[in-house]
Amino acid sequence: MAQLAICGGSPVRTKPFTAWPIFSQDDEKALIDVLHSERWFMGDRKEAFEKAFAQYQEAEFGVAVSSGTTALQIALEAAGVGLGDEVIVPSYTFVATASAVALVGAVPVFVDIQPSTYNIDPDAVEAAITPRTRAIIAVHIAGRPADLDRLTALAQKHDIRLIEDAAQAHAAAWKGQRVGAIGDLGTFSFQASKNLNAGEGGFITTSNSELAQRAWSLHNCGRSPEGAWYEHPLIGGNYRLGEFQAGLLLSQLKSLDELAERRSRNGGALGNAIEGIEGIDTTEPDERITNHAYHLFVMRYSAAAFNGLSRDHFIEALNAEGIPCSAGYRPLYGEPAFTTRFAHYPLDSPYYGGRPDYGQVHCPVTERVCAEEAIWLTQNLLLGEESDITDIVTAIEKIQTHADALQ
Ligand SMILES: Cc1ncc(COP(=O)(O)O)c(C=O)c1O
Repeated sequence: MAQLAICGGSPVRTKPFTAWPIFSQDDEKALIDVLHSERWFMGDRKEAFEKAFAQYQEAEFGVAVSSGTTALQIALEAAGVGLGDEVIVPSYTFVATASAVALVGAVPVFVDIQPSTYNIDPDAVEAAITPRTRAIIAVHIAGRPADLDRLTALAQKHDIRLIEDAAQAHAAAWKGQRVGAIGDLGTFSFQASKNLNAGEGGFITTSNSELAQRAWSLHNCGRSPEGAWYEHPLIGGNYRLGEFQAGLLLSQLKSLDELAERRSRNGGALGNAIEGIEGIDTTEPDERITNHAYHLFVMRYSAAAFNGLSRDHFIEALNAEGIPCSAGYRPLYGEPAFTTRFAHYPLDSPYYGGRPDYGQVHCPVTERVCAEEAIWLTQNLLLGEESDITDIVTAIEKIQTHADALQ
């Protein structure tokens, strides 16, 4: 076989993968239509999108907001989380899952993930519950639903709220139901990289009318749906999604099924194809996951099967072969945002009675996964032809065959 590209050989692939975002003339028209409507905020499109996306995710109610981060903040506040409360979050996720907790004045409690799924470990959640725990945030990492059976049971048993962070999980389904309203509340992101995208944007789903009403009020200056414009029963911010984004999302939503189906097909095919490669796995299948959204295709790498080649060096070699990939997150509790003392930092709250010491937190699975195991391929790599999947597999096999050249 040819020399590795990183050593000067020809790469397996020179063709780019499917570009992201994808947009059509319908999307262009949707944006122009908003422009001409002269109604650029709180118009028909935001409301129509709220109905359509809530229905898509099988939730009774939906509130369209400015980002996935603000969706989390509002969901937490709607759930009654506030000063001095603890919220259990996974240590392997985007920073917003935990920073949203701090932004509402509560304390994130980091727990480890399962080695076979990369999702929050329900045993670790159970061990972390204290009388201060008010909520659990289950992130459906990479678009793979977390164990919602165990997590909903735990939340019910301890009378705490379960919030699904589904920022990466549009169209994902657990036992035949789309995620977002299986827990008390769900949150989504429409930021540029996401499987449904309007540059920025977010969404809250719930099938609880009281929580829906609170979320609506919190995102709209504390107004109430039936109240007068200058009537404010709650203190809320302005986190509304604008009409341009709502118009674009309504149009983009029409192709979500087709794209989700392609990601599922190609993600499944890639999972099957790498089964034959020693030292490369993906997360373990679970028949309760009836749709994996594949926001990311996660590979679990073992250097031992690649002649000791480190994960980071493997990533460089795979990139050189024309397959874009990356290592992903760092353990979140180690970020200076949580370990450094800032004057304005809400974690000093006297309501909590002592600042959490994140320097003492160790989640061994997260640390190993971040340091030496995880490799991410982004969702757009799964939107093309079967030959794209073949190229990924060929490039991995080529590196394995020639791993000794990289020692
Ligand atoms: C798991 C998770 N939660 C929350 C967010 C925050 O979403 P946004 O970037 O729209 O604020 C993201 C975005 O990357 C995410 O991946």
